[in-house]
Amino acid sequence: MIKAAFIGTGPDPENPGPEGYAMAYQHAPAYEKIEDCSLVGCADLVLENAEKFAREFNIKNVYTDYKEMIRELNPDIVSVCTWMKDHAEIVINCARLGVPAIHCEKPMALTWKNSKLMALECQKRDVKLTFNHQRRFGEPWQKAKEMLDKGEIGQLEKVQFSAGNLYEYGTHSFELCGFFNDERPAEWVLAQIDYSDENIVFGSHNENQALALWEYDNGVLGLASTGKGSSLVGAQTRVIGDRGVIDVFPTTGADLRIRRVGDDSWQEFNCEKGNYIDKAIAEVVQAYREDGESVLCAKNALKSTEIIFACFESVRSRGRIELPLEIDDNPLETMVREGKIIPE
Ligand SMILES: NC(=O)c1ccc[n+]([C@@H]2O[C@H](COP(=O)([O-])OP(=O)(O)OC[C@H]3O[C@@H](n4cnc5c(N)ncnc54)[C@H](O)[C@@H]3O)[C@@H](O)[C@H]2O)c1
Repeated sequence: MIKAAFIGTGPDPENPGPEGYAMAYQHAPAYEKIEDCSLVGCADLVLENAEKFAREFNIKNVYTDYKEMIRELNPDIVSVCTWMKDHAEIVINCARLGVPAIHCEKPMALTWKNSKLMALECQKRDVKLTFNHQRRFGEPWQKAKEMLDKGEIGQLEKVQFSAGNLYEYGTHSFELCGFFNDERPAEWVLAQIDYSDENIVFGSHNENQALALWEYDNGVLGLASTGKGSSLVGAQTRVIGDRGVIDVFPTTGADLRIRRVGDDSWQEFNCEKGNYIDKAIAEVVQAYREDGESVLCAKNALKSTEIIFACFESVRSRGRIELPLEIDDNPLETMVREGKIIPE
């Protein structure tokens, strides 16, 4: 029997937005669908949030203090669904209290130091730490990767994405680029942003517009365009090989399309719009049961997170950033705090 527990249930799953999505309401059904998995407890600083969630998912044990919940229930896996500023502290406390598997919402943490620290503290204790970068389980990305691996567009040369921002949403997109490039680490990053209008999502600053370029250690180039002008890329994710291009969610409205060298036109596909979180959590639990490593592991998440913070460091230092990244903070948060960037 796998015992699952939840930290940060959220107040309102009916009204998702930048002030809250109540992501725990999307995690819980995923655990419910897993054979031999029991939802044993939930904790939220706001008691009524936890009580409402417990009623919804038939959970007996309700807490406002997640540490008490862990000490009393000894869960096998905990889903951390709070905002990013609290991820590191909660994950580290869960690891210290002996939770063997922790599935945390994205992004990893608010700073590069805390992202590394939470991964390290879990690694030291053999705790399986994963992040809810669920999109790679979606059929459009799965199919695109299959086509790439079959050699349909030849050798991978470039991965590109368009998104609303580099950090809060972009963490998914950078992670998908890593997925297509077999989790290679990046070697350098160059970026510029515009942050004129304050854009706070789940308590974190996010730029309005960005252009970023980076190179992986196997020579594959990455390009990201966010906000105004992001139609430059032409798709949510574009994968370019030496013999063709694959687009996931191109701006034409298709789910997936491919154009090989010699093709007269694009070949488009419609894909299943299944629940990616169900698949992500099923894979995380299976990896825990088999003592294996989930593809959503902290090791992979660190590689994409490093590029994000390197983008902001490139803005701060006005230059190309060679990796590994040697800063501790989130340069965007620091630049705003120090008045170097003043969003209105
Ligand atoms: N994977 C995705 O596609 C996706 C989509 C949206 C949001 N998210 C991420 O999910 C995370 C959570 O966002 P949300 O919108 O679900 O949040 P939310 O505001 O809906 O819920 C967070 C809850 O955490 C509780 N909380 C805060 N600190 C706590 C603590 N120390 N102990 C117990 N409870 C605590 C709050 O009271 C609140 O009820 C964010 O990191 C966000 O980026 C992921």
